[in-house]
Amino acid sequence: MTTRRPRRLRRTESLRQLVANVHIHPSDLMLPIFVKEGLTEPQEITGLPGVLQHTEESFLSVLDAARDAGIVSVMFFAVPLDRDETGSQACRSDGILSRVIRRARGHVGDQMVVVADLCLDEFTSHGHCGVLDDRGEVDNDATLTHYVSMATVLAQAGADLLGTSGMMDGQVGAVRTGLDQAGFSSVGILAYGAKYASNFYGPFRNAVDSQLVGDRKTYQQDFRRSGEGIDEVLLDCEQGADIVMVKPALLYLDVLSQVSQRTTIPVAAYIISGEYSMVEVAAAAGVVDRESTILEILTAVKRAGADIICTYWALEFAEKLGK
Ligand code: PBG
Repeated sequence: MTTRRPRRLRRTESLRQLVANVHIHPSDLMLPIFVKEGLTEPQEITGLPGVLQHTEESFLSVLDAARDAGIVSVMFFAVPLDRDETGSQACRSDGILSRVIRRARGHVGDQMVVVADLCLDEFTSHGHCGVLDDRGEVDNDATLTHYVSMATVLAQAGADLLGTSGMMDGQVGAVRTGLDQAGFSSVGILAYGAKYASNFYGPFRNAVDSQLVGDRKTYQQDFRRSGEGIDEVLLDCEQGADIVMVKPALLYLDVLSQVSQRTTIPVAAYIISGEYSMVEVAAAAGVVDRESTILEILTAVKRAGADIICTYWALEFAEKLGK
C-alpha cells in the first residue's frame, strides 16, 4: 500500500486553494498601450483582438481603468505619422512618444510606473531597431548614440523606466551613462536581456504599422542557441540593468526560469502579441476555455520566475481579480 497519496491535497477546491503557492496580483501585471499620432478615434489592430491603437486622448481613460484595477505599471509604444532613415522623431521632445509620456506622468503622478519603449523601430522608415550603415546593415555603435538621446528625451518627459528593446550590444551601458550624465540617475532601465527573433511578433508589427522588410536576426537572438539568453542577461546586469526582461515568454519559459535563478534583480516576462493571439484565436474557435487558459498561462509565467508579467490581458484580468 502506498503511504504517499498526493491526491489527498487535490480532493476539494478548498484543499487545492490551501496549498496553491503561485498567485497573480494586479500589481504583477504591466499593461502595454499603443498610441498613434493623428488618430481621431481608437482603432482596432489586425491580429490583436481586443487591443486598440489609442488617440492622444483616449489612452488616458485606459490609465484610469488600469489604476482603478490595481495595475501599477504601463508600457507605452507610440506610432508616429512621419518616419525617416534615422527615426529622428524618437529623439524629439515634442515627438509623439515624449508627449504621451509627459501626459501620462501628469495624469497619474507617482501612482503608476510609466515605462517607455526605448526602440527606434516604430520611428524608422525601414522599420529596423537601429540606423543603417552604407551596406544597409544595422550599425550597432552609431545606433547607441540615438538611443542615448532618445533616453534623455524620454527621461525628461517623465518616464520612470526605459525598456531597452533594441538589442544593440552595449545598449544598457550606453543608456545608463547617458542618463547619468544628463542628470537622470534615478530613471531606471528595464533591459530586454533575452529577446529572441520570434515569429510571434507579427500582430505587434501591425500595432505599430511597422515598415520592416526582412527580419531582425542580426540583433535579436537565435532560438536555436541555448545559453545565449543568460549570457545577454548577465551582460545587461553588468551594464546597470535595474530589471531584466525575457521575451517572448511562453515559448521561452526555460530561459525565464534560468534567468530568475541566475539573477537577483527583478525579472519581467513579455507575453507577446502572437502568443496572445494564439490563445484568442483558439478560444474564439472553441478549442480552449478562454478565461481558465489565460489564468493558466499567467500562472505558468509567474511560476517560471517572472516577478512582472507584461501582457495585453493585464487590464481585463486585473479587473476580474478585483470582482
Ligand atoms: C520593439 C518591440 C517589439 C515588441 C515589443 N517591442 C517588436 C519587435 O521586436 O519586432 C513586440 C511585442 C509583441 O509582439 O507583443 N520595439
